[in-house]
Amino acid sequence: MNVLEATNVWKAFGDNTVLRGVDLTLAQHEVVVLIGASGSGKSTLLRTINLIERIDDGRLVLSGDDISEPRVDADAVRARIGVVFQQFNLFPHMKVIDNVTLAARKVHGQNPAEARAKGVALLERFGLGEKVNDYPDRLSGGQQQRVAIVRAILTDPELLLLDEITSALDPMLVGEVLDLVRGLKESGSTILMATHEMAFARDVADRVVFMHGGRIVEAGTPEQIFDAPREPETQEFLARVTHR
Ligand SMILES: Nc1ncnc2c1ncn2[C@@H]1O[C@H](COP(=O)(O)OP(=O)(O)OP(=O)(O)O)[C@@H](O)[C@H]1O
Ligand SMILES: [Mg+2]
Repeated sequence: MNVLEATNVWKAFGDNTVLRGVDLTLAQHEVVVLIGASGSGKSTLLRTINLIERIDDGRLVLSGDDISEPRVDADAVRARIGVVFQQFNLFPHMKVIDNVTLAARKVHGQNPAEARAKGVALLERFGLGEKVNDYPDRLSGGQQQRVAIVRAILTDPELLLLDEITSALDPMLVGEVLDLVRGLKESGSTILMATHEMAFARDVADRVVFMHGGRIVEAGTPEQIFDAPREPETQEFLARVTHR
């Protein structure tokens, strides 16, 4: 079964139509990277999947369940999806471990000791073992973002949505966050991410999806999209963002 099936998704804000019939499918363990110019609709698409924005038309299916149906329980859907945005959004008054386990304890009702043990293990795995009991303001931006990712994966979400998770970071700190995403891919996560890091997209993506004006203009393997783009919009975008 596919983890995500988006079919003919439309979304407008007032008279600004931002998504114009998007079709996108993610198989289990697939890593799909959204690229495209600012304003092309990448974040909006991610936000509709997490039900932050409701779609105007079309259908979103998560592991077989129609989540675009109006009566769907949005909190229950969100509990199945891990999300990390550009801004880390850690709670400043809570220690790293408490940030990481909050949803597991409060939303999923996991046993606090078990959630803590899993949180500590994940923090250690991603090089944050010494930060378990620190407050977020004692961490670098890259460390904070890694904590946010650990928080998102603690409850084993079916799907991980990552939106420009490195764009607020000092360039020196981008690598450590991208290494973590590589690790998630290796351990089998299903990931849909928007990024401006083209080298990373090429490296980690099973499939690259180019958005332009609210449409998917072209999709394919990294080699197809980066080395032999077919559509003029893709060619023009890549010429602008890559140094060739
Ligand atoms: N909540 C909102 N209300 C009104 N307009 C919105 C809202 N969210 C997004 N938009 C508009 O939708 C369009 C697409 O924005 P979106 O954030 O999806 O683009 P993006 O591809 O993520 O761009 P970027 O690369 O800059 O992150 C833009 O014109 C934006 O102004
Ligand atoms: Mg965006």
